[in-house]
Amino acid sequence: MEKLEFPDGFVWGAATASFQVEGAAHEGGRSESIWDVFCRRPGAVYAGENGDVACDHYHRYKEDIALMAELGFQSYRFSIAWPRILPGMTPDAGTGAVSKEGVAYYRSLCEELHARGMSATATIYHWDLPQALQDRGGWAERFIVDAFEAYAQVCFAELGDMVDRWITLNEPYCSAWLGYDEGVHAPGIRDLDQAVRAVHHLNLAHGRAVRAYRQTGLAAPIGITWNPQTPRSATAREADRKAALTARAVETDVFIYPVLGRGYPEIVTKELGFSFPVKDGDMDIIAEKIDFIGVNYYTENPVAFDPAARFKYRVQPSWEDVSAMGWYTVPEGFERQLRWLASLSGGIPLFITENGYARDDRPDPSGRVHDRERIDYTRRHLAVCSRLIREGIAIKGYYAWSFLDNFEWAYGYSKRFGIVYVDYATQKRYPKDSAYFFRDLIALTGA
Ligand code: NOJ
Repeated sequence: MEKLEFPDGFVWGAATASFQVEGAAHEGGRSESIWDVFCRRPGAVYAGENGDVACDHYHRYKEDIALMAELGFQSYRFSIAWPRILPGMTPDAGTGAVSKEGVAYYRSLCEELHARGMSATATIYHWDLPQALQDRGGWAERFIVDAFEAYAQVCFAELGDMVDRWITLNEPYCSAWLGYDEGVHAPGIRDLDQAVRAVHHLNLAHGRAVRAYRQTGLAAPIGITWNPQTPRSATAREADRKAALTARAVETDVFIYPVLGRGYPEIVTKELGFSFPVKDGDMDIIAEKIDFIGVNYYTENPVAFDPAARFKYRVQPSWEDVSAMGWYTVPEGFERQLRWLASLSGGIPLFITENGYARDDRPDPSGRVHDRERIDYTRRHLAVCSRLIREGIAIKGYYAWSFLDNFEWAYGYSKRFGIVYVDYATQKRYPKDSAYFFRDLIALTGA
């Protein structure tokens, strides 16, 4: 087994996101998000489930943080629910009042983390867009950029003294493509034009938030989290190699290139004819300097040329073991992806902000969950990090997805990613074996 070695100062964390864990959907003045609405759409979410209660983290965050700290985690990545902070925000009436309850909740959560010696990594947007903003077109319309900047400014003003690391957006790929093109995520739209506009507005919203942040004088680092899709070519044939590059351009380069100052990739602008609604100055704003890149990695797929497909590529079957999501375990893909990112990003520090494994966990009669496959998956992906760090690639931390089993979007509660099992009927938490794996790893390597 490859040795896992991590340098002093490497950050060990666990991650969640507001809609997936908080519950308390009607408390603290929270308004509706696009996910509340999407969950009510017949057939949209597994078994008609929703985020009303989830893991009840809104009420149980203290005990959850206590458990994280007991296991030795040094950082918690959570997200801030936009509809809790600005419940009255609408496109015409401006931001509305800042919610005292919403702010108090996240301040208290951060205080709790700090009291236990942990750092607070806050994602500003992890997909719970206020429905009132979607009613005017959401990410497909340009007003959203001002709205997001205003919301981010409120986060900086109200929580800037508490947050240790800021992430503007989580996986804009999912917001744009799954939300506005494939329609499998909220707001459930299937319209390529809207999706292309959403890509640009997400990028620009990110840049505007970073620019606004630089004006606050706050010193905590700020970055963005991507889930780069970097499929490999199914064969060595030129057409398949091109297909893999096209897939990467559509799903990934459209986010990463502009933020890294390279503009939109020509494959999409010239060959596929995507027309991003770029105005003067946008590209400079998108390329505002960031302090780190967050990487969410789960899998890698082979793709091949397919003349009949919309963008002329098609995902192919593969051979590796799969998780309960049906996702192949491909640590080699993680290595390829991180090397590629490192080659593009000019040494900007990388944080693994998510990596994890879904499994049909069930506690045994004594309440133990022996999730061997999750531990193996984690160990193999951490081995990649360890190896690349030894080679000098700047990977600065790793956040397990997820701390708790939670609401897995369109799959509802049917997919369990936690290192802690949640019995949704009682809300009791059961650390799985993988939680103890992390405990020991952090004890042995954590500084
Ligand atoms: C990415 C997302 O950020 C998170 O919300 C989701 O639960 C995990 N991946 C697993 O699909």
